Parts: sequence; C-alpha cells; structure tokens
Amino acid sequence: MVGNVTLVHNGIIENYSELKSYLIQKGVNFNSQTDTEVACAYINYVYENMKDFKDEDERKLKSILKACLDFRGSYAFGIIFKDTPDVIYSTRKDSPLVIGLSDEGNFIASDISAILDYTKKYILLNYMEFAKIEKDNVTIYDKNLEIITKKINEATWSATECKKNGYEHFMLKEINEQPSVIKNVYSRFFENKDENYSKVDFSKYTNIHIVACGSAMHASLIGKYLFENYANIPTTVEIASEYRYKKLLLTPSTLVIIVSQSGETADSLAALRISKENKATVLGIVNAVGSTIAREADITIYTHAGPEIAVATTKGYTTQVATFACLVINAMKQKNIKYDFTLENEYNNIDKIIQSVIDKTNEYKDIAKSLSNRNDIFFIGRGNDYNMCMEGSLKLKEISYIHSEAYPAGELKHGTISLIEEGTPVIAIATDKELYEKTVSNIKETKARGAFTIFITTEEFKDTYTKDFADITLFLPTTSLFNEAIIIVTALQLIAYETAKLRGCDIDKPKNLAKSVTVE
Ligand code: F6R
Repeated sequence: MVGNVTLVHNGIIENYSELKSYLIQKGVNFNSQTDTEVACAYINYVYENMKDFKDEDERKLKSILKACLDFRGSYAFGIIFKDTPDVIYSTRKDSPLVIGLSDEGNFIASDISAILDYTKKYILLNYMEFAKIEKDNVTIYDKNLEIITKKINEATWSATECKKNGYEHFMLKEINEQPSVIKNVYSRFFENKDENYSKVDFSKYTNIHIVACGSAMHASLIGKYLFENYANIPTTVEIASEYRYKKLLLTPSTLVIIVSQSGETADSLAALRISKENKATVLGIVNAVGSTIAREADITIYTHAGPEIAVATTKGYTTQVATFACLVINAMKQKNIKYDFTLENEYNNIDKIIQSVIDKTNEYKDIAKSLSNRNDIFFIGRGNDYNMCMEGSLKLKEISYIHSEAYPAGELKHGTISLIEEGTPVIAIATDKELYEKTVSNIKETKARGAFTIFITTEEFKDTYTKDFADITLFLPTTSLFNEAIIIVTALQLIAYETAKLRGCDIDKPKNLAKSVTVE
C-alpha cells in the first residue's frame, strides 16, 4: 500500500527503476525493492496529481489508465483505493486475469481453476480495458473509459476436477488421468468431433516452425520427429524465448505452431504475435480454454487435458504429443501419403496400454531407490528416444532437485563421459529398432566406467535383450511410433515422482517455479 492505493500485481514492471528514481525525486519513500511497490506508488502519484475529472470514479480510472501507459512489461492488477475499500479496479497487459461473476459477489484471479469453487462464469479483459468490480456489479471500460459490454464465458472445467480426489499429490492424480485424456484426444480426432483439425491445410505449407517453452518444447520435438518422418514436412523446433529475438525466416508457406498448456506463457505469446506480424498462419495447441494464446492464434486445437494444477506438467505434455500425432495423420491424409492405420487401431486400447504402464508402481519405486541419494543422473538415447530423455530429465530435476542431463547417446564420448564415475546413474532409452544396438553399445561404455545403468525399452526387444549391461531393466508395452513417447514419458514421470517422494520434496509446488510463466 502506498498513500491511497493498495494493489496486488502479477507480472514484471520492466522500467520500475526509472519510475522509482522519478518518484524518489518527487519525495516518495519506498519500503521494499519490488517493482510492485513502484507500480503502486506510481498509480498513487498520478492519482494525487490528477486534475480535470468529472467525479471520483473517473479520477481513479483515469489515474490507472495514465499510469499504465507509462509501465513497460507485464501486469495484471487488482487495485483498491482507501476511500472505496469495497471496490476493486482491475486491468491487465500480458499477464492472465479472470473476473469471476457470482450471485454472492465478484472477484479476480489469474486462473480459472481458482474461481471454480464459487462460479463458472467469468469475463476476460483485453489490454487497455479496465474493470470496476463491486459485490453486485462489474463495469468494464475501454481505453476511452467508455462503458463496454463483454462476453460472459462459462468454464468447461468443474471444481472437482481441480481437487486431489483422494490422490496424495495433484501430480499423481494428473498422471493417472492420462489414460482417459489421451483416449479423448484420439476419439475427438478419429470420430471427427473436432472441426479445427480440418482447418489446417497442410498442402499449403512447405515448412513448419514449432515454438514453445519447457515441456511443451519437448512435446514439440516429438511433433517434429513425426512431421518429418511421416508427413515429409521440414520442421524446426524453436525455444520461444529465443525465437522472439532471432531473425525469422518466415515465408507465406511456413506454418507456425505455438504449443502451450496454460496458453499464457509470455515468451510463447510474444512468438505468436511476432509470427502474426510477419503474416504467418499460427496454429495454437493449447489446453486452457479461452487463454490468450488460444484466442490470438488463427486456428486453435485444444488438448482437452482438463485443469493441470501440479507445477510439473504431465498430462499437459502427453496430450500435446497425442495432438501432434493426430495432426501428422491429418497431414498424411491431405498429402495422400500412405500409412498403415496402426494409430487408428491402437487408439481403441490406448487407455488400457497407458494404465498398464502406470500400474508398474513397484518397478518405479525400485528405480527411485537407486536414484534418490545421487547428485547427478544422465539420460541417454538416440533419435526420438533422445527427445523423450529430455522430458524425463526435466521432470526428474524439477521435482526432485537432483541434477540431471539428457544426452544424445552418441554424443557422450565427445566430452560428457568424463563425468561418469562409480555409481553414477545412467538411464538409457532404446525403443527404436534401427538405433537399439547403437544405444546398447553406448550404455555398455558407461557401464565399463562404473555407471549404475537403468535400461528402458519395449517388450518387442525382450528376445534380443541380453542382461549383461543393465543393473535394472524396465520393459514397457510396444506401440506404434506415434504413441511411444506417451508410453515412455509416463514411466519417466512416475520415476521422477517416486524419486521426489523419497526425498521428501514438495512435489506439486517445486521451489522457484510457477505454473504459468507470464513474465519474460
Ligand atoms: C515443466 C513445465 C514447464 C512448462 C513450460 C511451458 O514441467 O511444466 O516446462 O512446460 O513452462 O508452459 P506452457 O505449456 O503453459 O506454455
């Protein structure tokens, strides 16, 4: 609170030190180092100096608007003035904000799941829109402070979906939802329940840029693998925070795909906007319905994973992979590329197959025991297996706080193998027939240097497999290549989960992490 103004802020005011120096010159004192206090003080300063207004309401709204024009960065604000403690003023730029509407009162939150216990009705604000929120009334204004009418949305998620429902952690609950949400992605596609797939005409595009962050970027690597191997479309995967500042070689025949569970990730959103400014067609693969990326993409395909509460994504990632599989099948159909319909047959049983992976709890617990007291862990694999390693490694490090790295197995001997010492865990993934022997040779190289080796493969290799190089082996069901990452990564999620549990970590809320990264 500064003077007349109290506020809550989600985001970052990038030019806060400039504004702070200005305010200090004007005699304002500060109690903290935060950009939020500067935002609060600046709105208060503008408010106190605001002349030329019709009434108190206009003064408050105008001072917020004028201050916001001087802020650089991202914000969602809830603002209360001292003399009207029952009124919240609100506005946003690049940070998410929902205004929940109910008969008992109205409120603001940064995520729909936070309001579902009270209401399913909500309003979304655009940049330069302002809300005056009272117990029984919400008024929305445009940038000229004219009253406007906004659409009232109805959330499709229920409050029960946002509860643990008997599971020890949200992460475990969400891992266990994968059989049904993956089946749902496929049935929506194969039973033609989602018209958005047909809006993407792959015969128009000569190349694809997939842009995302973190696990969504890892899911995109699987997408690239499928697009290139099956639909013959050259595809690059770009990290959103890099893409937004690099030279974009976009042509009218480039399709840009932005992948985001939350639909609010700042860098992914910025990449979307830059791509659109460059006249590219943008396809969004998004989970959160009505989120900014979903709204701003030219075409949006929802993954329908339902609310994901655990910070570490699980069903968010696997539904993205399944959506890529559907898109690639569609691209093949449109380009008259023959395929053997394995996926179409497989999807009928996919829920049971994933469930059988989840049910191997004791095996995950055994692996976790061998990892939980180690400091460094390596994941190795080749081709698409390496893409899965990247997600497995991220999952493990983010929730268990054990340092881990994913390496293309053939790259180890170019440096990293020097880190392998007696007992260092190396997790090798080998699911690809063409590369199986090569990966086995690489795991043997680490075993010869003292590594504790964990070998993850599929049942089709049970006959060729020799026991001599692995301390622990995990056999998982054989599926088509379209579903392999879903199967393997589900197991890796559970290994990460059991390891973090043994270490007593705060699994659903790992330190230093936020569920949606709405700042750059
Ligand atoms: C890791 C994780 C993050 C997100 C990333 C992108 O478990 O959850 O790496 O995948 O922050 O988030 P979205 O998909 O919301 O854009």
